[in-house]
Amino acid sequence: MPITVSAPGKLMLLGEHAVVYGHPCLVTTVNQRMRVAVEKLSPSILTLEAEDVELIGYKKPIRKLGKGKIPKRAMFIEIAMRNFFYKYSIQSGLNVITKSEFSPQFGFGSSSAVTVCLIKALSELFKINLTLQEIFDLSYKTISDIQKEGSGFDAAAAIYGGTLYFTAGGKIIEPLPIDELNLVVGYSGVKADTVSMINLLKEKIYTYKSGVEKIFDKIADLVKEAKKSLLSKDWIRFGTLMNFNQDYLEDLGLSTEKLGSMILAARKAGVYGAKLSGAGGGDCMIALVTPENKKQVATAIERVGGEIVEVTTNVEGVKSEK
Ligand code: MEV
Repeated sequence: MPITVSAPGKLMLLGEHAVVYGHPCLVTTVNQRMRVAVEKLSPSILTLEAEDVELIGYKKPIRKLGKGKIPKRAMFIEIAMRNFFYKYSIQSGLNVITKSEFSPQFGFGSSSAVTVCLIKALSELFKINLTLQEIFDLSYKTISDIQKEGSGFDAAAAIYGGTLYFTAGGKIIEPLPIDELNLVVGYSGVKADTVSMINLLKEKIYTYKSGVEKIFDKIADLVKEAKKSLLSKDWIRFGTLMNFNQDYLEDLGLSTEKLGSMILAARKAGVYGAKLSGAGGGDCMIALVTPENKKQVATAIERVGGEIVEVTTNVEGVKSEK
């Protein structure tokens, strides 16, 4: 019987980019899940099917894991498996099937979710008890081996679920006891590349380090304030802080005209606050709404060309599926 594990996607609430430089962020999870099924094989090979990304019949001898040419779509599974097998001295053939509910187009964190699922599934298959922190450490190592950049907030979200206060590398992973957040999510129609956006910001840091650092300090401050408002359900204040965070992201050149017009449309429709979510340069914006004005806000975003992505937030983290 294969072992199946699922993990949720994520949405950055506040603190993107600054989190890469050691400041905190707030992240919540969404009800679109990645699923990974694993079973042992007697030949010493990895076989992988990932229909959603049109990867069918991928094969690799176990002794060659992580070596030679690896298609981008197999990368996270293969490197996660190599790292797990190496750490726990395992040699076994493995069949892996992945199925995603979310489009890899949106920055919901499909690569991190697939990595987290595989590590959790392998720990069950080979009966190795791992704490959530240990799953995080191995997932973060895998993501860093591949991407070199990134805070690991998406892996933490996939593992712990709910809504987290997080700092880079998992130094702080603090689950926040809150209920669902009423968010409207709008996709700008442009797929964003996180690593390119991180590099774009690096260039700005290179030319004007003290200026960017001052903005990061202000973002860090508002994230800490926002954590308090989240815990006390002060939505007016939380929304205002989202708006301030958007202003700083604009100052850093990370927003786009399209995101800007979607955010403005949402604000005019009467939200608590609205901002881009994630790396910027495209991808999604989020707006904090009331159950009453949710529909009206969604319509306003659609009118300026945004695509609404229906999600519920604050969902369960990585888990075994029956
Ligand atoms: C991307 O969704 C968020 C960034 O802060 C990158 C990261 O934290 O890994 C830009």
